[in-house]
Amino acid sequence: MADALARAELAIQSSPNPDWRGGHRSLHGRSDARLLLADALGVSRVGESDLSRTLGGSERVRFGELVDRRVAGEPLAQILGYAIFRGLRVGVPAHVFVPRASSARLVEEAVSRIERRSGPAVVDVGTGTGAVALAVANEAPCSRVWALDIDPNAVAAARRNVDDLGLPNVTVTRSNLLRGMPSRLRGRVDMVTAHLPYVSAAAFDGLPRQLTEFEPCAALSDGSNDGLGAVRRLACELPAWLRPGGRFAIEISPELAKPTAAVLRLAGFADLCCLEGEYGTQLVVGRQPRARSPRRLSAAILIAAAALSPALADPAAANASHKKNQAKYDVLSAELLAGDHGLVVHGRGGCARGDRVFLTVTIKQGGRVARGAWAKHSCTGLQVPFTLTANATSGTFHKGSATSVCVSVWKRNGRTVSDARVQKKVTIT
Ligand SMILES: C[S@@+](CC[C@H](N)C(=O)[O-])C[C@H]1O[C@@H](n2cnc3c(N)ncnc32)[C@H](O)[C@@H]1O
Repeated sequence: MADALARAELAIQSSPNPDWRGGHRSLHGRSDARLLLADALGVSRVGESDLSRTLGGSERVRFGELVDRRVAGEPLAQILGYAIFRGLRVGVPAHVFVPRASSARLVEEAVSRIERRSGPAVVDVGTGTGAVALAVANEAPCSRVWALDIDPNAVAAARRNVDDLGLPNVTVTRSNLLRGMPSRLRGRVDMVTAHLPYVSAAAFDGLPRQLTEFEPCAALSDGSNDGLGAVRRLACELPAWLRPGGRFAIEISPELAKPTAAVLRLAGFADLCCLEGEYGTQLVVGRQPRARSPRRLSAAILIAAAALSPALADPAAANASHKKNQAKYDVLSAELLAGDHGLVVHGRGGCARGDRVFLTVTIKQGGRVARGAWAKHSCTGLQVPFTLTANATSGTFHKGSATSVCVSVWKRNGRTVSDARVQKKVTIT
């Protein structure tokens, strides 16, 4: 058995497949091989004394198969079917994001912030297997935790984990960000944790196949140009749910920590801070102001505008490209959001200097209007890429079907910019 183990260690260690451990690219040939051997033998661990015996024929075949999967890049947790996260054995089925050790920091932050409150309400957005929600519920048993995810596979996995771990204070709900929360919790949530997708569309295209094959793409990237699409939408939704003084912690890459804090500042949050996380990640933390600020009324607009237009980040450069009295928009593509509950529409366009506009999008498929599938943005500058997220209020969309996308451009005073309305048939990818 010792020989088989040594060969497996070497094969895993020298395979070209990177793995993510808490945000680090690394392979752990030795520990992985041991865990796979234990799994092949049906035991909890392989001790030194076990290594002197010879592997039986079926054990050898099973061990070989597991090692081959690992060498092919499949995450260890998906092969074993579980990961240990803050001492909890969390089930990890195929096609669900593998919890990273780095997310333990989210748990620490949440638990330390709620420990003095009685019956605190905690929400974990984009919960995946539910690892963060489960750990908070376990370490703060007086808390009531909502675990939300848009992906039905993740929701099923998180529900199974809640049952297996017997944590009655966790409710798992399928939800697009915070929209599935019970309305009685509006303005009452004490703590929100979030580890949402943040790989930009361009960076995602460059990721090695092994990193995108086993975990759902929508868990890694929201398809936005800068990786902040999901964070921006969360920043727009958060103010309605947090109680005055309520807190949030968002796990993000170090490069995106400051831009994330800037988005949250625009949304009117206070005490923003980027904390060094583990394994090369950061946490952006902050709190809901104690008093309502009039500036916040326009948070969604400001955030969307900043996303749409580099013009707002660099008005001088944008002004240089403006041409007076022109407004032209084009829809380029539309893709399904995870869970088929909505669409992301990509396009380019712009309007005349000084015109601050709103874009609304309406999507129709199969003769059925997806009412409420609209999004608002504002933008200045010509040929600016825009991304609109449209959520269906009823039904789900399908890939491939011909779909009509209508983007209307509205001036601030409410009049439509007549030459800037685009109706286009696109095929959803
Ligand atoms: C990076 S994974 C993190 C999973 C989990 N928090 C963890 O740390 O293990 C991102 C998760 O967010 C979910 N997600 C993506 N977009 C979402 C949305 N609009 N609403 C809710 N969940 C979303 C994905 O399905 C995925 O499970």
